[in-house]
Amino acid sequence: MASNPLRDPQDRRLPRIAGPCGLVLFGVTGDLSRKKVMPAIYDLANRGLLPPGFSLTGFARRDWADEDFAQVVHDAVKEHSRTPFREEVWDQLAEGFRFVPGEFDDDVAFEQLRHTIEELDVSRGTGGNHAFYLAIPPAFFGDVVGQLKEHGLADAAGDSWRRVVVEKPFGHDLRSARELNGILDGVFPDGSIFRIDHYLGKETVQNILALRFANTMFEPIWNANYVDHVQITMAEDVGIGGRAGYYDGIGAARDVIQNHLLQLMSLVAMEEPTTFDAQALRIEKQKVLSSVRLPSDLGATTARGQYAAGWAGGEKVPGFLQEEGISATSTTETFAAVTLHVDTRRWAGVPFYLRTGKRLGRRVTEVAVVFKRAPHQLFNPTATEELTQNALVIRVQPDEGMTVRFGSKVPGTAMEIRDVNMDFAYGGSFTEASPEAYERLILDVLLGDPPLFPRHEEVELSWQILDPILDFWAKQDKRGAGPEQYPSGGWGPGSAEAMLARDGRTWRRP
Ligand code: BG6
Repeated sequence: MASNPLRDPQDRRLPRIAGPCGLVLFGVTGDLSRKKVMPAIYDLANRGLLPPGFSLTGFARRDWADEDFAQVVHDAVKEHSRTPFREEVWDQLAEGFRFVPGEFDDDVAFEQLRHTIEELDVSRGTGGNHAFYLAIPPAFFGDVVGQLKEHGLADAAGDSWRRVVVEKPFGHDLRSARELNGILDGVFPDGSIFRIDHYLGKETVQNILALRFANTMFEPIWNANYVDHVQITMAEDVGIGGRAGYYDGIGAARDVIQNHLLQLMSLVAMEEPTTFDAQALRIEKQKVLSSVRLPSDLGATTARGQYAAGWAGGEKVPGFLQEEGISATSTTETFAAVTLHVDTRRWAGVPFYLRTGKRLGRRVTEVAVVFKRAPHQLFNPTATEELTQNALVIRVQPDEGMTVRFGSKVPGTAMEIRDVNMDFAYGGSFTEASPEAYERLILDVLLGDPPLFPRHEEVELSWQILDPILDFWAKQDKRGAGPEQYPSGGWGPGSAEAMLARDGRTWRRP
């Protein structure tokens, strides 16, 4: 008898609801918890995707009672949730809130955490299933996972599960990433470690896979025969805000290229996985990362800069070196651009240009696959200067969607060709609103569904790509050739323009 697809647990079209479980959040006072994690938990509850007895336990160095913690979550939810606030949803959710005060090296506090979890298993029916979310600086990962192990919190009994969720930065370089992975691997099995790269939770990023592998028309031209180069841009109009402590010494390449942009590149460049499961997907991404080659001349094929004082959104803004908490001699880059080659048959000779920066002209993340020019320009004598190359642009954010750019005849008696755009916008085609990346990713953690989480091999390979560039820049700093200043509200330093001009190309102005 044919199986009923509506009952197929593998059917990814069905809403997936987490089974009985709880989440323990370390770092409850941080920005990430307040702006992303707490609102996402409420949004999931509001969409009916959490189990009725779901529990959220906060752990922090604060003298709080459960009610104080509930108030903090309440304020965060009111301010940052995507979906409307509903008292009945909130009341049910808040019944599962607990708070454990303590330091990360405090044995008594971790014993109390163990008791709290046992109490929740009884009172809320969480069934021994708990995820530990480390929204804390990586310097503390060792202490916390050590304590989880020490107090028996990492061990799942019977059919229950224990998982750990970690946020970037996954290290500072290859060596520290290996150390970090060693710490996690020493306590949790591979399948229980969830590394969050929130870009993978974005709808438009997942749509790269749908675009490529659910259709027939793109894949035949998705290779070096047709593609001239690929540009991946993540531009932000904001500065570092109040994150000086985190950002100084980290910079744009470690903050964004090591994770988000290399993951985007992997999805664009990878071969079709045999299935849409974590193992198959990660294998293909890993192959891309291990095929990456840096050009030999890093001086000409990378660029970096720091935003200078100027104007943004009609307001006067300080330069990076004048930001509070940043040393006036800091060489941390707020803009980074790199050229990478993917040495596979599919991509031989096709450069991937990755760039990211703060205080640029506007907030936009996009992947532009730029095609080669037609080999014979039949209409050359009348072609206008605007006639450029065909491009397929995946707009990750904002204005989520896709644009195909191609040449078209301008109406009139002459045979004049001009570029036009064919647009797909999520808003125009779907009535469903896109969930926040954190909703999707937290739900996947609770479901134990790992395809959207990078494995430790991917993290290490990404550092392997970046380390020589970072070393090169560090050497330049020593010679006094630090990052170039670029005007706020522009598109980055001149060296980034020169990097492409040298290859006879230009950056897109999104
Ligand atoms: C984070 C970076 O990972 O991504 C931030 O640490 C950056 O520096 C942020 O601002 C951007 O995320 P999004 O989802 O707004 O593009």
